[in-house]
Order: sequence, then C-alpha cells, then structure tokens
Amino acid sequence: MNIVLDRIDFNNLQQSAVVIYGSEVATRTLPFKRDEVAYINARRADDANALVVLNRLPHKLYVQNFDSDLNSEEALEKLRRAACEIQKMLVKEKVQEVAVSGLGIIPEELVAFVEGLHMANYRFDKYRSKKETMLNKVTVDKLFLDAKTLEENRVLWRRIDTCRDWVNEPIMYLNAPQFADILKAEAEKIANVKCTILGQKKIESLGMGGLLAVNRGSEDEARFVVLEYKPKGAVNKQPVALVGKGIMYDTGGLNIKPDDYMQEMKSDMAGAATMASVLLTAAENKLPVYLMAFLPLTDNRPGKNAYAADDILRMYDGTTVEVVNTDAEGRLILADAIAYADKQNPELIIDAATLTGAAVRAIGSHAIAGMQQDAASPFSLMTIVGNQVYERIAPMPFWKEYDELIKSELADLRNCGSKPEAGCITAGRFLAHFAHHPYIHLDIAGVAYYAQQESFYGVGASGFGIRLLYAFLQMRTEREYLTA
Ligand code: BES
Ligand code: ZN
Ligand code: ZN
Repeated sequence: MNIVLDRIDFNNLQQSAVVIYGSEVATRTLPFKRDEVAYINARRADDANALVVLNRLPHKLYVQNFDSDLNSEEALEKLRRAACEIQKMLVKEKVQEVAVSGLGIIPEELVAFVEGLHMANYRFDKYRSKKETMLNKVTVDKLFLDAKTLEENRVLWRRIDTCRDWVNEPIMYLNAPQFADILKAEAEKIANVKCTILGQKKIESLGMGGLLAVNRGSEDEARFVVLEYKPKGAVNKQPVALVGKGIMYDTGGLNIKPDDYMQEMKSDMAGAATMASVLLTAAENKLPVYLMAFLPLTDNRPGKNAYAADDILRMYDGTTVEVVNTDAEGRLILADAIAYADKQNPELIIDAATLTGAAVRAIGSHAIAGMQQDAASPFSLMTIVGNQVYERIAPMPFWKEYDELIKSELADLRNCGSKPEAGCITAGRFLAHFAHHPYIHLDIAGVAYYAQQESFYGVGASGFGIRLLYAFLQMRTEREYLTA
C-alpha cells in the first residue's frame, strides 16, 4: 500500500475519503452541507463513535466520529479498529484509492488510523488464483503529518507486512536454511547490519546440544543466525540482545501433536521473525541503539533418528537437560541461543517465543505473557510502552519456587514441568537458567497467529510485538533504564 502526503479538498473530492471527526469541533467549520451536518450530528448524539457514510457521487465520504474522551491509549486503538472496519467497506466496493484527514484531531491519532488501515490491508494471497482487490493508495492530509514521521512509520509497517509473510509461509517453501538466506539477503540491503549464518558444522563444534537434538529428526540442516546492528553514536555500549524462537514447523516430534493441534505450527518461528524484523526496522530507521539478534532455526519432526523422551542433552553452556517431552522443543533451542547471547555481555536479553499453550490458556489472545529476571525496570518500561501501543504485556509471577517443577533426577533440568500446572512460567524459568544478564521473556503464543480475524491484525500471522519492541527501543534511545 502506497502512502502519500497531500492537501485534501472535501468540497471537490477526487476519490473516496475518510474524515475523522473529533469530539470538540465547532459545527460551523465543517466541510459538509447543512443537511449533512444535521444528519451527522444526529448520529453522533446517539453514538459518539458512529461511522456515517455520505454519498459524494461518484465517491463516498466516510465520516468517522471520534470521541477521544477516553484514556488516549484506548482512543488510539479504537481508531486502528475503526480503520479496519472502513478498510473492509472499501475493499467490498473495490475502492483502491482513499484520502484520509481529520477535524479536531492530533497527528498521533491520524497515524493510528493509517496504521490500522495499513495493517488491515495485508493479505497473504500469493497462493490464491483469485485475489481480492485491495487498497493500493492512501493520501494522508499533509496538515497532520510531516514526511519524516510518515517515512519512519512506513518502514515499520512494511517490516510488519514482511514479517507476516515469513510467518505465513508454509514449511515446504521456507525451511531453516532458506529462512537464514532470506535474512542474510535482507541484512545486506541495510547499512550497518551484519548477518552471520552459523551452519550445521559450526553449531556442532559449538556444542549447541539443544538445537542439535531438536534438529535430529529433520531432513534439513539447522541454522543459527546472528544479526548485528551497530550504528555510530549508539546510546549503549553493550548490545540489547534479541533472541527469537525459530521452529520452522512444530509437529511435536516423536511426541507428535494429535488431531488439529498441529495446524498453524508453521507459525512457531514467529519469535525469530519478530526479532529479525525489529532489528531491521531499527536499522532502516537509523535508531541509535546497538542491537544483536540470535535466531536458532530448525523444524521439529519425528524422523528416523529423532531425539526422544529420556534423552539427556548437554547444552551450549554445559547444563544437562533430561528430555521428558519432545514437544517442549522451543526452550531447548532457546536455551542455547540465550546462553550464546549471554556471552556477548548484553545490557539486556529479550526473547520472543511462541513457547507454550499454557500461556494461551492463562491469558488468551489479547496480550503477551511477560516475565523478567534482574530486569525489573526495563520490564516495567516495556509494560508501559505495551499499554501505549496497545500490544500489551501481562506480567506473570516468576518466583524461584517454580524451579522445583523443572528439577530432574537424572540431569540438571527437565524440559517440562513435573506437574501440568503453571506451564508458561516453568518454561520461562527453564530459559532464565541460561541468562546471567538482565533478562525479559515474552511468550507470544497467544498473539502471533490468529485462526480467526482479529481486527486489523487480520487472519494468520499478526506481526504482534514488533510495534511494541520498536517503541521500546525508541524509548531506550531517549533514556537509560532506571536502575532496578
Ligand atoms: N509451539 C508450541 C506452543 C504453542 C501452542 C504455540 C499453541 C502456539 C499455540 C510448543 O512447542 C509446545 O508444543 N509446547 C507444549 C509444551 C508441553 C509439552 C510442556 C505445550 O504448550 O503444550
Ligand atoms: Zn512443541
Ligand atoms: Zn513449539
């Protein structure tokens, strides 16, 4: 979707247009006819957020009433959602161009609306013979937006689309070696970004026992991708380490997933896709923050030599792990990645992972389950940022008492809890064992992929978390984390 800036003349519309009509605007200043004003105001009196569609043949004018008398975060989310509803109507009418402006609103509100429009306009339709006619041009009223702000957001929104493409792609077209090559090609296009792909041999020589075990059943080699974005004048000397779960497909392995539990497991690399996208967005927008990403990639399958329950693994950092269930594979590859990231002396390690069904059962699909170790202040900052962009974090308890559940008789740890309770937390505690720097764990299992449409996040891969982490890093460029 192409977004341009221009002036919009409502009395001489050259295309369909949306005007967001704020709550405190003098009626006399409206660019509507008298009878239109009467009609809009009547609808507005009934419902402060009513959408009124006016026919300005051959175009339509969509008047989105907007009651900003809410805390502003909710108001902005309401605009993103309203944009999604309007996008649906435009697509239904096969409208490809639309203009967007506002009355009595602030630039941030217009950005939120265009964000919703852009995200709603995403489709993964490359395998469909008949494609829907989507919006392809949006003209934004330049009264509200400068070119620089638009460009920064455009980069972010494009990255979200690309991330969703990666996550939606089935395993048969996107395996670990292929994804690693794509990341390298993307990295090479951007200044100050370096991509190193560690191949099978290197992973073996490093002794990444978790990644190697999960990969044993696979026909494809594993990869470990390291991205580095090191701009001159970065605010931090030690990198922020972004770790992402890159299970290209999760069959469960020998503990194979039953019935329809396997469906959607192409999305089990959403953590890796998210973290790569965050780093690339920051680099494209030249954010002055030093970042590294660590992305362990493989699929999890029951092959001839697949790892099995009862196996005991030696991880990259020397910890031994008893395998109890081959479907708890994410924490095995992440343990190696976190231990490896930890050696780079990062100021903060953040991981994103579609880690547990337990996270979905605990909090559903509206938030990320978040946990932290030695990172109370960046975590609370991230939670605040999450509320602002409405990609929210639900903090989970993270007490050391949960470690009882992942103790093993035979090894240092077991890869899933000895009781089924608190599955999302025991998974996090397992990972925290491998981090010796401030650490934040984000379980994105509930939000990374939607089976049914979830407003502007659409159906399928959502890109949820990219806006959150990008906004968090923007914040990092403005201030130190308060000391914990
Ligand atoms: N990839 C899954 C978690 C998942 C489930 C993500 C549903 C998205 C939606 C993970 O590897 C897994 O299978 N976890 C098991 C762990 C269990 C065996 C301890 C789970 O949550 O059931
Ligand atoms: Zn699994
Ligand atoms: Zn998994």
